[in-house]
Amino acid sequence: MKRIAVANGPNLNLLGTREPEIYGKTTLAEIENLVRARADQLGAAFVWFQTNHEGALLDWLQQNARGATGLILNPGAFTHYSYALYDCLRALDVPTVEVHLSNLHARPEAFRQVSVTAPAARGVISGLGVRGYLLALEHLLADD
Ligand code: DQA
Repeated sequence: MKRIAVANGPNLNLLGTREPEIYGKTTLAEIENLVRARADQLGAAFVWFQTNHEGALLDWLQQNARGATGLILNPGAFTHYSYALYDCLRALDVPTVEVHLSNLHARPEAFRQVSVTAPAARGVISGLGVRGYLLALEHLLADD
């Protein structure tokens, strides 16, 4: 059976009330329900995680993403500086789509223009809001 792992980094537990003009009003639990329902439709097993701690994210990925059909990863701010996360993605070698709700390239802070993790991903979806998670799922479960 195909298996999809979804991991979310720091502050994404605050979605819904966190800078809604940037991240939207959908909560993380609502995103989980949407993605889980689509994974069910597509016949894939599904595991979901959020943490505010870098080490906890690495531990979870090492235990849950290895051998998965695909990984959907929104690393939050770890995107911009976590070489440990980059190394982890390289080591796991699982097809990964990095997802960002906002368009990093349209954000004013210079640090957001760089993703140190993206080179270890198959692709990046940035700026398409919640739909980014669903598009990543479709891609990872496509047979082509
Ligand atoms: C984010 C973008 C990051 O720069 C930020 O630190 C986040 C969320 C996004 O989904 O747009 O926490 O990954």
